[in-house]
Amino acid sequence: MIKAPRGTVDILPEQSKKWQELEQLIRSICSYYNVQEIRTPIFEHTELFVRSVGETTDVVNKEMYTFADKKGRSMTLRPEGTAGVARSYIENKLYALPEKVQKLFYMGPMFRYERPQSGRQRQFHQFGVEMLGIESPYLDVECMVMAITLVDTLGIQNVKLHVNSLGDEQSRQNYKEVLMAHFEPSLNELCSDCQNRYATNPLRILDCKVDKSHPVMANAPRTIDYLTDGAKAHFDKVCALLDDLEIEYVVDPSLVRGLDYYNHTVFEIISDDPRLGNGATLGGGGRYNGLIGELGGQDSAGVGFAFGLERMMIAIGDELGDDDGLDVYVMPLGEAALDLAVQIAAMLRANGFKTDLDYQQRSMKGQFKSVDRFNAKFALILGESELAKEVVIVKNNATKQQSEVDLGDIVKYLENEIAAGEHHHE
Ligand code: HAM
Repeated sequence: MIKAPRGTVDILPEQSKKWQELEQLIRSICSYYNVQEIRTPIFEHTELFVRSVGETTDVVNKEMYTFADKKGRSMTLRPEGTAGVARSYIENKLYALPEKVQKLFYMGPMFRYERPQSGRQRQFHQFGVEMLGIESPYLDVECMVMAITLVDTLGIQNVKLHVNSLGDEQSRQNYKEVLMAHFEPSLNELCSDCQNRYATNPLRILDCKVDKSHPVMANAPRTIDYLTDGAKAHFDKVCALLDDLEIEYVVDPSLVRGLDYYNHTVFEIISDDPRLGNGATLGGGGRYNGLIGELGGQDSAGVGFAFGLERMMIAIGDELGDDDGLDVYVMPLGEAALDLAVQIAAMLRANGFKTDLDYQQRSMKGQFKSVDRFNAKFALILGESELAKEVVIVKNNATKQQSEVDLGDIVKYLENEIAAGEHHHE
């Protein structure tokens, strides 16, 4: 038997209702922030991720689904969304649009070759937001507020907003030197990856999964102690704005994020929900002022974040996924009734009723089971005597009342019943 590849899952109808509800909620929040959808390709030139996410990151080094296409070009299934959006922003000259600030969102599958566990898959889904065009701490904060609003709206509790600053280019250079001096004496105790990172990108040592409990990690120097005046002013403004908006956050100097394009503000939304296991980071993001320039565009600023939707689903629990059910289930009894049932169903669908019918010629009892399973408001029973009289029996599943209704009057009858039911509820 062929099974789904390790680290992938099928989202079955039972679950997909919940997914649709989550996606709708996300879309609605985006519309409140005037964030527009962008859809970029699922695969890109490998080089895009190497140049943006960074050659020394785990994502690029170990986790990419890379393949040669028929012409031998190296392609990669996107491991994240920021790189594709940045490429598209440059390629489609979105920076030249009259509206200088571009606020974009995306939702869709991402691919990372990781060890699967609760909230960690090889094909997973992200909702991400990118705000491009100007460098303003107000946009850093808008991203964080949006992210917090999302988890609040979903009723997800016990989350913390962690914030840190990596500073600008000069701050990072200063920090890099201090960091190298710090790790140098214990270098031979660190894993071979970290020994390479020391030479290529020492910041990456800080998110090493192998060496994370080595004492040299705990007392490592902190990025926020090496910010230039400009970088510090940016970060202070971000914190002041969060205070003004009464958003709770913790400054977490150990937060460096796993992707290379960040500078200035970085943040994560972390949950203490035990069901998430090691996947407690629901979402994260930050500012990436150098990225557009690095990819060959006119230098321009950006900030954004992404949430893992599988992790959101786990944290939401049973909150979403209510089923509205069908309006009508049509029940033909006997072969002769089926042709008419098909016509009635077509007519009802055309009139805006969610409708299904039995094609299996089951007994009345069997068909009523489907009425219940689909949570249909009405059952339309069509037996031989109804066929002869050109009527149907309409059973209101809420009141259990049954009436004989002329074929020509079905829509009007159902509309009246629904209106009466709603009136009854008030
Ligand atoms: P990231 O931290 O790599 O950031 O991923 C964001 C979120 O995606 C994580 O917090 C997590 O919830 C989810 N995620 C990541 N890997 C997996 C996985 N294997 N299985 C399930 N969920 C996963 C980014 O991707 C950046 N592009 C975010 C960003 C946007 N920064 C600026 N703009």
